[in-house]
Amino acid sequence: MPRPHDVVFPRRRERSEDRRKEGQHRKLLDEFFDHPALLAVSRLVNRGLFDSIDYPISTGKEGGVFRATAGAEFRAVKIYRIGNSVFRHLPPYALEALRRESSVKNFGGLIFAWTRREHTILGRLADAGVRAPHPYGHFRNVLVMEFIGSPEGMAAPRIVDIPIEDPAALYEDLVLQVGRMARDARLVHGDLSPYNVLLHDGRVVLIDVAQAVSADHPEARRLMERDIRNFSKFFGRLGFEVEPADFLEAVGGKTIGPPPAEA
Ligand SMILES: Nc1ncnc2c1ncn2[C@@H]1O[C@H](COP(=O)(O)OP(=O)(O)OP(=O)(O)O)[C@@H](O)[C@H]1O
Ligand SMILES: [Mg+2]
Repeated sequence: MPRPHDVVFPRRRERSEDRRKEGQHRKLLDEFFDHPALLAVSRLVNRGLFDSIDYPISTGKEGGVFRATAGAEFRAVKIYRIGNSVFRHLPPYALEALRRESSVKNFGGLIFAWTRREHTILGRLADAGVRAPHPYGHFRNVLVMEFIGSPEGMAAPRIVDIPIEDPAALYEDLVLQVGRMARDARLVHGDLSPYNVLLHDGRVVLIDVAQAVSADHPEARRLMERDIRNFSKFFGRLGFEVEPADFLEAVGGKTIGPPPAEA
């Protein structure tokens, strides 16, 4: 039974719901789009990398990824949060590498270096023909890359979020991409998981590559083995048994870094 007030002002409740949603939306935007981030975004807009930011595809503790419009196309814009949260989960070797590469001391500077690093690595992957978002540019803590999704603008799902009908085909495609990453780009992802692999047009796309290390890095082999082990477990859960040793062999793991010392 609607209350008389709602009969007279039928839109009232809806409006308050709209306001609540708007409030949540604004809170989210406030978190990412502080004054410096807005300046960075406008710099990239002025450079012609995109026209406007549409909405968040994903927001997490370390940053957010937004869909953006660029003419008739879409782009993905990743904004890292300024703060130490990005580095809290980072193993010491990665932080060391970053400090060495960037020679900056404060967290702000490190975040910018981290953003640049992701851009550089995406470039190396593109050069090697690995399926990953093409990088378009970066400024401060903002990275602009290819939008992985439908022409209508629907972002591609992560493989952890969808039913996998043909795990064998997925495995084969993953071996191809990770193998290219290792052999041709000479890089190890270091955080390869079903959360960081999208499925687009039935094929895998590797994302979230900022922590990747060179194949000759002392930790490279250990990281590769860990990536492979984790992914093998995922395939096992799908009922498709993958022997980590075979997986490693298939992606050229033997050519990566120094082999780990025998336990
Ligand atoms: N280029 C892209 N095109 C479409 N969607 C993307 C793209 N890059 C990232 N995404 C979406 O944004 C999510 C987060 O991206 P990513 O994994 O790079 O960031 P993250 O730092 O791991 O963030 P989180 O901590 O939230 O996982 C992805 O899971 C994916 O859904
Ligand atoms: Mg991720």
